[in-house]
Amino acid sequence: MITIEQASSGDIAVLERVLLDTVTWLNDKGTPLWGASEVTWDALSKKYSASDFYLAYLDGAPAGCMALIEDDPFFWPDVPPDESLFLHKLAVTKAARKLGVSDALMDFSKSEGVRRGKTTLRLDTHALRPKVRAFYERHGFRHVGTKVLLGKYHTAFYEVDLHSAILTRNKNSWNAIADSFFGVTALPAYGCLCPGEDELRLFPDLTGKAVLDIGCGSGHSLLWCGRHGASELWGLDMSDRQTETAERLLRGHGYAPTLFCSPMEQNPGLPPGYFDVVYSIYAIGWTVDLQRTFTLIASYLKPGGIFIFSWDHPFLHCVEAVDEKLVFSGNYYEPAPFNFRKLDNPMTLYNRRLCDYVNALAAAGLAVERMVEETDKETLSRDAEFSSAYYAPGKAKRFPLSLIVKAKRV
Ligand SMILES: C[S@@+](CC[C@H](N)C(=O)[O-])C[C@H]1O[C@@H](n2cnc3c(N)ncnc32)[C@H](O)[C@@H]1O
Repeated sequence: MITIEQASSGDIAVLERVLLDTVTWLNDKGTPLWGASEVTWDALSKKYSASDFYLAYLDGAPAGCMALIEDDPFFWPDVPPDESLFLHKLAVTKAARKLGVSDALMDFSKSEGVRRGKTTLRLDTHALRPKVRAFYERHGFRHVGTKVLLGKYHTAFYEVDLHSAILTRNKNSWNAIADSFFGVTALPAYGCLCPGEDELRLFPDLTGKAVLDIGCGSGHSLLWCGRHGASELWGLDMSDRQTETAERLLRGHGYAPTLFCSPMEQNPGLPPGYFDVVYSIYAIGWTVDLQRTFTLIASYLKPGGIFIFSWDHPFLHCVEAVDEKLVFSGNYYEPAPFNFRKLDNPMTLYNRRLCDYVNALAAAGLAVERMVEETDKETLSRDAEFSSAYYAPGKAKRFPLSLIVKAKRV
């Protein structure tokens, strides 16, 4: 297992060892990168503090490191302050090569950049090292320039837009798992162990109405809207596998939908002020930019139009079941995106608080009409086996697993 921890002054000797191991290995290969004297703490401490470094451990043993700093005027004199995180001194020990440590450090550096509110991760590297450059390019870095520094160091400059890096990874993973989500979580269901639309009646009469589904998945919610009289079925999803499936499903039932393959953070050509209802069933939490997404959604709605969404309740990621008890083990305030695997595909999600949703709706000009924090009656009335599952009925008996919100464009 690979873990990554921020270093402290007690880790300086370990850092020196990891870096020296890399120096020795690259020298032995005949591709020197840094001199041994450059990776002593005496030399490093002129530019870095210990807490700038992160150490990677493979099964508990130090296996790699990197430094992440917020200011780098020597290499990046023209970059505006506060915008970027700069990556330096990425190293992996010889024994840990090709075991995923450098990939884990790359993923971590992107998450850390987003956690610190940065939009861009930047790095410089030896311009004459095609393998190293290919590694960064495989991780989504874009080559933005080359310079010869101090008359002899051929340096290539790379950057990655942190939001688009997450979107690309999530899109690839959704494409890979699309078939396993055929008709999963779709209207009239809103989410996990919560009341559905048949009971809540949040939607207006859809007869003759134009509806737009954000994160339409396999198209089953749009099918429900068509069966309830909606005259125009529009949908958006960033997975081309999902939009193809939705197109097939809806056409197979005699509907002619207008579907876009696009992230919800962008307008792919949707008409402004056009829709009576915009909704999103278990997709909104995937956005990398909640405010931008809500502002776009408001712009698609007619004045007085309705927006409905469902997503995991913000408590869900904070509470786990341990030894037949529910333990509040997470941090409600932690804004860092987290990486996880869904059906063995890497994905990144953000933790958000209830106020993040409500304040973003308000700023977009969407007035909340109803908020639902309920578990369905059936789950509440039956005895629930205690289980450690993420969506466990034992949790649902104590707090809502899903949040449902209805708002109106003012
Ligand atoms: C759980 S599924 C939604 C199910 C769907 N609402 C239904 O009714 O069948 C989540 C969907 O969100 C999509 N998605 C994830 N991130 C997205 C983003 N940033 N923009 C647009 N779609 C996204 C995924 O491709 C996936 O199809």
